[in-house]
Amino acid sequence: MKTPLAPVPPMGWNSWNTFGWNISDGLIRATADIFAESGLKDAGYEYIIIDDCWSEKQRDKNGRLVPDREKFPDGMKALADYIHSKGLKFGMYSCAGTHTCAGYPGSFEHEFEDAETFAEWGVDYLKYDYCYKPLSADGANLYRRMAMALRSCGRDILFSACNWGSDKVFEWIRSSGAQMFRSTGDIQDNWFKINEIAVSQLDKQPYGGAYCHNDMDMLVVGMHGNSDNGEVLGGVVGGCTDTEYRTHFALWAMMNSPLIIGCDVRKMTDTTKEILMNRDIISINQDPECRGPYIIRQWNNPENVFALVKPLADGEYAIGMFNLSDKRAEMSLQFYDIGLPVSSGRGLELYNCYSHSVTGTFTERYVTQLDSHGCDVFKARAVKV
Ligand code: GLA
Repeated sequence: MKTPLAPVPPMGWNSWNTFGWNISDGLIRATADIFAESGLKDAGYEYIIIDDCWSEKQRDKNGRLVPDREKFPDGMKALADYIHSKGLKFGMYSCAGTHTCAGYPGSFEHEFEDAETFAEWGVDYLKYDYCYKPLSADGANLYRRMAMALRSCGRDILFSACNWGSDKVFEWIRSSGAQMFRSTGDIQDNWFKINEIAVSQLDKQPYGGAYCHNDMDMLVVGMHGNSDNGEVLGGVVGGCTDTEYRTHFALWAMMNSPLIIGCDVRKMTDTTKEILMNRDIISINQDPECRGPYIIRQWNNPENVFALVKPLADGEYAIGMFNLSDKRAEMSLQFYDIGLPVSSGRGLELYNCYSHSVTGTFTERYVTQLDSHGCDVFKARAVKV
């Protein structure tokens, strides 16, 4: 039997957040080089994905997509070969509508030939957007179509559906055959958007899972307001503090989102590297059981302060404590609420995923102060006390 794609959330990089239209063969190769040299690849990041704006504005006379001759003079096959030579995988972008969001040719009514083209080029991943969908066309059907085109193209191509959460996508996308699905509108490099996206997906956690993951959009970690794409991102680029980037990464990891980096990896600071390559946090995201977390809200601050608790395959529990508010706040996690009554004679041994050491063993509850927009993440094991 063939090995199924995406047993756990895919990890990689996508050109859109930072570069938008301004992409090229050189940029993509340089990004692949950094993946191999900086430790990103060893940390699990695998897919290098070109987003919108990579093609000519017209198909060729045979109806085939043509890479932009100036941006990608050697074509896509040569680029794919380069990426593969680094032990990485190659992702591309198209759209279920007649045009992509930036106005390039979309795959509507070209699904099977485009899947064939991508397979010939050595593509391993296809992000599939939702702009310019003919009003009369059924969106779910168009995702089924491209899924079938990819599944029959003769190459393993991971299908990353991107309809921004429309049409209750979480109800039907798994059956379409896609391996991941964008569940929200576009992220921006600011705390407001991170917060909004995370909160909007708290009640969708039961819908993700192995082989079909809830994609909360690309990461903005490490962008620090640097983007060629300010206009497209809504002009509200802004940037975040490292505390906010750390919390953003922890939320995406705990909520089982694919981890697709969106910053310029050639310019990562030490802190950005530390956040993106935190192996303890990544291992929570990549846990083979892919269980969505349950939520325990802080009784006196339930909107802003909560813990996410996620059972892991090895018997441990990941516990992320989050403070989304603008003030420092207390989180008191009562172990009773997560399934550990005092009568069990057990407590929790807490391993801190940032200090990478055991904080201690606690009974009944764990109380901590969280910085504004801050978090703490532990791996917990129930032990006899
Ligand atoms: C949409 C998608 C983004 C990006 C752009 C490209 O807005 O949601 O992630 O792919 O299109 O134009």
